[in-house]
Amino acid sequence: ATEQDLKGRRVLVTAGPTVEAIDPVRFISNHSSGKQGYAIVQALVARGAEVVLVSGPVALPCPAGATRMMVQSAQEMLTACQQALAAAAREGRPMDAAICTAAVSDWRVKSQSGRKIKKQGQQPPALELVENPDILATIAHLPSPERPPLVVGFAAETHDHLAAAQAKKARKGCDWLLLNDVSPQAPGGSAFGADTNKIVFLGPSAPQPWPSMGKDSVGQRLAAMMGAFFNAG
Ligand code: C5P
Repeated sequence: ATEQDLKGRRVLVTAGPTVEAIDPVRFISNHSSGKQGYAIVQALVARGAEVVLVSGPVALPCPAGATRMMVQSAQEMLTACQQALAAAAREGRPMDAAICTAAVSDWRVKSQSGRKIKKQGQQPPALELVENPDILATIAHLPSPERPPLVVGFAAETHDHLAAAQAKKARKGCDWLLLNDVSPQAPGGSAFGADTNKIVFLGPSAPQPWPSMGKDSVGQRLAAMMGAFFNAG
């Protein structure tokens, strides 16, 4: 049986893509499947954690034992996370950890059209984009007790990955960052759509390369590290 070392721990997880509407029928999004985030949720539940999963549109069912909130846009995802963190703090049982695996769309259109944009004249419409909020950075910079003691991010990099990931971890203010080497020459094959991830774990000490492994195994290894983190005394 799996160790129950996350029993009584509350964890917020973001997963999947976000969908940014252009008009009622069109949108900007990305190819995130949500698989890694959902695998992490499963592994956390298996160790006894109470998990709130804030998910963009994906084809996956809610992992048994987790509470799921479905959202569309980055702004909705941020609001759902802020509400979950605030509600937990208000109950006197703040979230112990937040894990941001969502592939949040970097941009949204500045002004959504309430009506389908018509193909008229010769000129295609110009879409003005504005930057979306950074959910991970926002959570990491919340005041206590909304800010969980452990905030974890992910980064997919193809080159200069270690330096870029170190800088990203500092900029976002997260405690752990799981760097996924998605370059085509990554050992074990880690490219998008592959079944294996090649992770380098960045925590408080030296970067720790993990062997190439499946997304379920990445989830289990992360959940085990969290169990150790919370039970270190
Ligand atoms: O900056 P980049 O997109 O590479 O950062 C990836 C990490 O930041 C992931 O953990 C992702 O979930 C999180 N992120 C976020 N909100 C954004 C952009 C990224 O939470 N707007």
